[in-house]
Amino acid sequence: MARTTQELLEVGDRHNSSSFAPTRMILDHGEGVWIYDRDGNKYLDFVAGIAVSSLGHNHPRLVAALREQVGKLMHVSNLFYSAEQVELVETLCARSFADRVFLCNSGTEAIESALKLARRYQTVVAEKPNKTRFVSMLKSFHGRTLGALAATGQPKYHKGFEPLIPGFDYAEFNNLEDVAAKVGPDTAAVLIEPIQGEGGVYPATREFLHGVREICDAHGALLILDEIQTGVGRTGTFFAHEGLDVRPDIVTLAKALGGGVPVGAMLSTDAIFKGFTTGSHGTTFGGNPLAARAALTVLKVLDDEGLVANAAARGEQLRAGLEALAERYPVIQFVRGQGLMMGAFCGDAAAPIVKECLNQGLMINTAGGNTLRFVPPLTVTEQDVSEALARLQKALEVLANS
Ligand SMILES: Cc1ncc(COP(=O)(O)O)c(C=O)c1O
Repeated sequence: MARTTQELLEVGDRHNSSSFAPTRMILDHGEGVWIYDRDGNKYLDFVAGIAVSSLGHNHPRLVAALREQVGKLMHVSNLFYSAEQVELVETLCARSFADRVFLCNSGTEAIESALKLARRYQTVVAEKPNKTRFVSMLKSFHGRTLGALAATGQPKYHKGFEPLIPGFDYAEFNNLEDVAAKVGPDTAAVLIEPIQGEGGVYPATREFLHGVREICDAHGALLILDEIQTGVGRTGTFFAHEGLDVRPDIVTLAKALGGGVPVGAMLSTDAIFKGFTTGSHGTTFGGNPLAARAALTVLKVLDDEGLVANAAARGEQLRAGLEALAERYPVIQFVRGQGLMMGAFCGDAAAPIVKECLNQGLMINTAGGNTLRFVPPLTVTEQDVSEALARLQKALEVLANS
């Protein structure tokens, strides 16, 4: 006999990592922008696995490509090439400022690779062994491994994990003076999210990013842009930094790149990659043919279905809809974001709204504990966005009358 939902929840609660507190449902399957639990409830998925399921669920081209790849070759290690891996690094370079790519398995691993490359470049190539420090931003989020955790400028994530890896200073986001005060002759790199995601959907201003670029150039520091949440079309350009016209030295990607298959990537130039000599950095799984095929398919579908332009257009629709709701429901205090990475600041009211949205069949989550975050698949239609706004309005109405 199949277990009941309640039984599965109890077993999960007993044996799954105690660091998680999942919502009380068991998800079962998805179709496009809709996701279904095993009890037959359906939800409009505006979480998309936290900005991961870029093509929605069960996309026929991704499913067909992965089925074929599973039966062909899944893994070879980095002792060998596969055509899928070669084509993926070629495609990422063709779309970006980069000449080379280190493929890995998650966002945090892409960040570790970026930090390590920056230090190796400064020490081995630039011959500045004193340039070992990093400046990252307050309210940033870069991941959970110890290097990325030290880079994350939020004390709540550090608590109990000290001592942190030394060498990190934190500057206020969008405050050039503070960055200028923190960057010095010993800075290897500055690390920034073009839009802070987990911190609460805060976009960097164009002036800020351009100013940071100048500060980096003046000090021989590298500029690392963490595009793990913003990248792969989400903000309406392939990289968020394209829309802001700023030149990075290193970029990290993950999340949406594999459309649900774990893939991370760290991109940089030939000159900087000189820091990684043979054997200096590695990974067993990174860039395996299965993951590479997933990412290649995501990139092709993005082009063939015009999904980057769709993210821009649907993002404007979502922003306009949220702003209209903010006029009617003062609980929404600000709307921020770009493309299909949108936030609505609601303070302490955010968590109850997320809960009521679920009752209305709309999945969203909070960022920074106080902001409703909307990061749907890039395949969302005009009708899906209207439907999500209508369901959010119902949730706001229920809460206003309770
Ligand atoms: C901007 C950013 N960087 C890094 C990470 C870490 O990625 P992962 O959870 O895949 O390790 C995240 C995850 O939310 C992120 O949003």
